[in-house]
Amino acid sequence: IEKMFMLYGLPLPRETHSVDSLKFAQDFKFKDDDVVAVTYPKSGTIWMQEILPLVLNGGDLTPIHTIPNWDRVPWLEEKRLAVVVDQLASPRALVSHFPYHLMPPSFSTSKAKVIYVMRNPKDLMVSSYYFHQMAEFLEDPGTFDEFMDKFLEGKVLFGKWTDHIKSWTKTELGDRIMFITYEDMVQDLPAALRRISSFLGRNLSEEVIQKIAEHCSFKTMKSNRMSNFSLVPKVYMDNDKSHFFRKGITGDWKNHFSSEQLARFTSVIRKELEGESFSLPWSMD
Ligand code: A3P
Repeated sequence: IEKMFMLYGLPLPRETHSVDSLKFAQDFKFKDDDVVAVTYPKSGTIWMQEILPLVLNGGDLTPIHTIPNWDRVPWLEEKRLAVVVDQLASPRALVSHFPYHLMPPSFSTSKAKVIYVMRNPKDLMVSSYYFHQMAEFLEDPGTFDEFMDKFLEGKVLFGKWTDHIKSWTKTELGDRIMFITYEDMVQDLPAALRRISSFLGRNLSEEVIQKIAEHCSFKTMKSNRMSNFSLVPKVYMDNDKSHFFRKGITGDWKNHFSSEQLARFTSVIRKELEGESFSLPWSMD
């Protein structure tokens, strides 16, 4: 049996997603004070998943130490949401890899906010390559070169990166959406947290900002068993192959791309984003 199936034109893993889970997401009733962190996979989803409850509750560490991340801030589109939805206390936080057009109708009519996290596609592709090796519910990535072709053709989890970016940069959400990059967060997490808290209407003291930054550092998250996926059985995620918390840095693509691969990657991405009104926050060379 194949590990992935196609729905709405997107390859999705059977382990975590189903026709029913996507239907459940479509029927999900957004509330005005909900917040959803949206990402293309490997852009910093779990990081924002850790940050959101802490910003929303003023730095109370209880949820991040007592509830596994997938139940604390569930994925809108995954099977698990149906199990935990009634236990979520408002203000609720969710994560999603949906392109904009798959957001449920109640999202448009609510005032729920979105934080869209984007990451340099070269780095997220490297991250995804290792993730495909360790995540047993995903296809084997093959060689790095083979994986690059699959990535550029959109034959990976949630399809093409360029489609995702195009979709979320063309919404009419106005001040309901905030864009942030993984690179901004790596460079200055407290500054990113100040932006996030002001976007969410939370006025946090500098002391609380520093406390949240400490608890959302790569090192601390890597050792938080409620966030590091160590509770997940080896048949789903094999930590002997790679770690979910792998490196947490920017620029690792330089250790993986040949000059030919860089040229191939850049030309495809440039071509697909031609004519778009936004400009990428990273140099593509
Ligand atoms: P690497 O594989 O490059 O290390 P996602 O959560 O969207 O699947 O993204 C996973 C990537 O985010 C991984 O990248 C992971 O290490 C990184 N990440 C998660 N938490 C982080 C943190 N606190 N600081 C820096 N990077 C983090």
